[in-house]
Amino acid sequence: MIKASQRRPETFSGDLLVYFVRRPAENNIPVCGNPVLDPVIDRAYRSGDFTAKAGQTLLVYPQQGVKANRLLVVGLGREPLDRELFRLAGGTAAAAGQKTRATKMMAVLPGRLDFDPAEMAECLTEGLLLGAYQFRKYMTVEPEDEAPGRIESILLSSATGAATARGIKRGAAAAAAGCAARDMANEPGNVWTPASFAEFGEMLARDGSLVCTVLGKNEMKKMGMGGILGVNSGSARPPALVIVEYRVSKKAPTLLLVGKGLTFDSGGISIKPSAKMEEMKYDMCGGAAVLAAMQAVAAEKPGKVNVVAVVPATENLPGPAALKPGDIITVYNGKTVEVVNTDAEGRLILADALAYAIEKFKPAAVIDIATLTGAVVIGLGHHRTGMLANDDDLAARVADAAGRSGEPVWRLPLGPEYRKQIKSEVADIKNVGNRAGGTITAAVFLQEFVNDIPWVHLDIAGTAWNFTEKSYIPKGPSGIGARTFIELIRNWK
Ligand code: BES
Ligand code: MN
Ligand code: ZN
Repeated sequence: MIKASQRRPETFSGDLLVYFVRRPAENNIPVCGNPVLDPVIDRAYRSGDFTAKAGQTLLVYPQQGVKANRLLVVGLGREPLDRELFRLAGGTAAAAGQKTRATKMMAVLPGRLDFDPAEMAECLTEGLLLGAYQFRKYMTVEPEDEAPGRIESILLSSATGAATARGIKRGAAAAAAGCAARDMANEPGNVWTPASFAEFGEMLARDGSLVCTVLGKNEMKKMGMGGILGVNSGSARPPALVIVEYRVSKKAPTLLLVGKGLTFDSGGISIKPSAKMEEMKYDMCGGAAVLAAMQAVAAEKPGKVNVVAVVPATENLPGPAALKPGDIITVYNGKTVEVVNTDAEGRLILADALAYAIEKFKPAAVIDIATLTGAVVIGLGHHRTGMLANDDDLAARVADAAGRSGEPVWRLPLGPEYRKQIKSEVADIKNVGNRAGGTITAAVFLQEFVNDIPWVHLDIAGTAWNFTEKSYIPKGPSGIGARTFIELIRNWK
């Protein structure tokens, strides 16, 4: 859908030709180098209508001199250039393309900027493709004049051919992963089930560089995975533990990614209020992020690290056999858990997945990602993912990858003092504490199942959907996490 092009932009005969311009110092006029467009920019700038602020656009209907039907100028502002700025600019261009119902677009990579052209192409590509994302498969009738257009092809034009092509490839792989995660999340709970995670994993494995294993209910029973089984016991759909492995070599370290794949969270017997309960189909966004990242791993075949993704998948529903408050379950590592609240189910399924996968794969590092607590939304809002870690170095690397991906995190503390809240009178631990510090209590619970392996926990309850609105992140699921993992894996040392 996106390709590098060395063609002169003037000869592009599609629907929309996009230029990006920096906001110049006072008394200078922004220029894009197109002889038809520059006089228009000059006029719009002098009249104060277009100052090339970041995100500002100018749409022009050219009379002659270019073949494109419409020209668009996107402002890049005057602030220092960074990756996010280009993603945002790409998203703005994609939004304008949809609004004008463009099917064929060309974007011109700005020259003479003090920024690596491959990285610029990468980030513009991400912004364009993530910004062009739509999920309309269940719309059987569309109001013809109101529906946004569907962009079919984008050319990125630049003089720096090879660097641009390299950047586009990386950006396209990351954007495809983000879009795949959004697709999984957008599917309703009656369509995207635990079996769907298994099918997605098996589909990834078909390409040959990945191996997928799915543990079903019987295997879980044999292995003593009382966490997933307990949460699943109110559901008519069987659970799945989906494992997708990428191995470069025996000697390479292994990175383990574990994502919560709760395909619908009603709360179970501790049932949630009905307002906004439909949003709980998104409770699988952690699982979506780790499998989407594996899609990019399969495409890029990184050389320095083995990657294993694990998704414990089930619904959490009330039913005659469902977990009840007060029930005591035994999870994979033999620890007993008093289930005080059946709505704190994410940590129960993650407990089995973490304990099992750490024992089996002996990873050098573990990252789990989960829509785990409402408390993180209260603490950090919808702008940052909550990060908790037992290892400063891994935490710093994850934070760096997340920042470079436009998916910022904020670290919260862990410590033995928080563990008191999950002390049980009748079992080893209980699954909830009191209201105070809920995100930390949840992480402290998970820590019981990772022990001393370097570990980072990402709580994406506030960022998996309703994420900070950005040009390239439309309403609905953000696909958060997938691109952070890809960035981390690419730079693994
Ligand atoms: N999936 C929810 C967390 C959640 C809440 C995600 C809001 C997104 C938005 C999780 O399973 C849950 O229900 N957590 C409870 C834990 C509580 C019972 C200790 C919560 O946060 O209320
Ligand atoms: Mn819950
Ligand atoms: Zn949940």
